[in-house]
Amino acid sequence: MTGNHLAIIVLAAGQGTRMRSRLPKVLHPIGGRPLVGHVLTTATRLGADHIEVVVRHERDQVVAALEKDYPTAVFIDQDDVPGTGRAVQVAVDALPADFDGDVLVLSGDCPLADADTLGSFLDAHRAAQAEATLMTAVVEDPTGYGRVIRDADGGVDRVVEQKDATTEEAAVSEINAGMYVFRVSTLRKYLPSVGVDNAQGEMYLTDVPGLLRRDGSRVAASVVSDVTVTYGVNDRAQLAEVGRLLNRRIVRRWQLEGVTVIDPATTWIDDDATLAPDVTILPNTHILRATTIAEGAIIGPDTTLVDCEVGEDAIVRRTDATLAVIGAEATVGPFSFLRPGTVLGARGKIGAYVETKNAEIGEGSKVPHLSYVGDATIGRGVNLGASTITANYDDVNKHRTVVEDEVHTGSHTTLVAPVRLGAGAKTGAGAVVRKDVPAGSLAMSVAPQRNIEGWVEKNRAGTGAADAAARTRVAE
Ligand code: UD1
Ligand code: CA
Repeated sequence: MTGNHLAIIVLAAGQGTRMRSRLPKVLHPIGGRPLVGHVLTTATRLGADHIEVVVRHERDQVVAALEKDYPTAVFIDQDDVPGTGRAVQVAVDALPADFDGDVLVLSGDCPLADADTLGSFLDAHRAAQAEATLMTAVVEDPTGYGRVIRDADGGVDRVVEQKDATTEEAAVSEINAGMYVFRVSTLRKYLPSVGVDNAQGEMYLTDVPGLLRRDGSRVAASVVSDVTVTYGVNDRAQLAEVGRLLNRRIVRRWQLEGVTVIDPATTWIDDDATLAPDVTILPNTHILRATTIAEGAIIGPDTTLVDCEVGEDAIVRRTDATLAVIGAEATVGPFSFLRPGTVLGARGKIGAYVETKNAEIGEGSKVPHLSYVGDATIGRGVNLGASTITANYDDVNKHRTVVEDEVHTGSHTTLVAPVRLGAGAKTGAGAVVRKDVPAGSLAMSVAPQRNIEGWVEKNRAGTGAADAAARTRVAE
């Protein structure tokens, strides 16, 4: 069975020393996903019969980060023989003995090669009927990459790693992108001949093309025109650059789907986010993880949404929200902090300097200014006056506050949970509500006010306040 059978091997065993990081290189995230996650997402789209991920450095951490999202991937442990050649060899050895198709090798640190690019690459390999096809690119600065050395006829002769290259070889500007298609029989035949006699003492996968040529076999090259698809991440500067390119691609995709993005350079959208047509994104806005935004919503400026759901025509300004649901036509911000479990109903409002958590706020209800609403169920048509606070924590346990429909609280009301305000109830300004309030009642808890006349002039003589008071008295 040859035909179009395909195995994909993703190399992810290296340490990534140049990152200088505790985190394995391939787990550094861009666009809301680890670098190697992008490679696996693309691999999954290509519809392979086998997807293998070669791991070694921090293997448990790498496996744990990927196994749930990529259940069809099989993790293969590399032994202590180093190098990309060995990595591919252990993966090929783990394939079923009767597998007889093509093997696409990808690097866990090259996240920009999309399914279209790799699909064309596979087509090129099959059309060329070569034993192996390399993806190559002609770049301005080939530093760090393996160089593709061509023979007199222009065919691929071999690949030379930078560290093993002569000055003349190093001057070649065609680089090995680190993505290859091989016939599996080719790998089975040639990998055992790959040695470690090189500057890095590693088994180089890049020795295989030279060995093939020595036997008179054909090695094809597929030169990509968009060099960015070959960009790899070896250090943090490249991490930022590749992250920016990925983001630019995601932003552009949504723009073509009908989303207005005022400033693509300061708009960051994760790969998992979904935006409807006629959404408008204002500058400095981060739409992260699985956030979904419905038609006509306006988000930003200066807003971060993580795993949020925003309804049609909602407006969310200068807001930080995580795991929150914002209803249709609701308004949020400026300077609002929505923590997990916030659910704001349609046409509701969460205003300036308001923090919410585990709070359901019903349709048309408003929390306009300076409030904390936590562990609460707020009905419809409620207005929580400025600085209304749910005191949900007694130092040991969290308790719930229930506010029924059409309740209005006075400014600076403290709702000491557990407590319930019945439908249509009201509270006076400054009320500290410790007991349930029956429907339709007014709750007051502040002591009646006493004015002690002349106190300031008597006790604060000579101050501006006393003088002002004295002048007022004379004027009367
Ligand atoms: C490799 C290529 C180089 C190419 C470049 C493109 C080799 C010898 N060199 O160099 O020609 O231009 O990619 O980006 O292949 N890995 C393993 N096991 C190992 C070593 C590495 O799984 O023992 C994995 C790494 O995790 C990484 C990938 O292989 O995902 C590439 O390794 P890296 O060390 O980054 O290779 P480069 O030096 O970039
Ligand atoms: Ca690399």
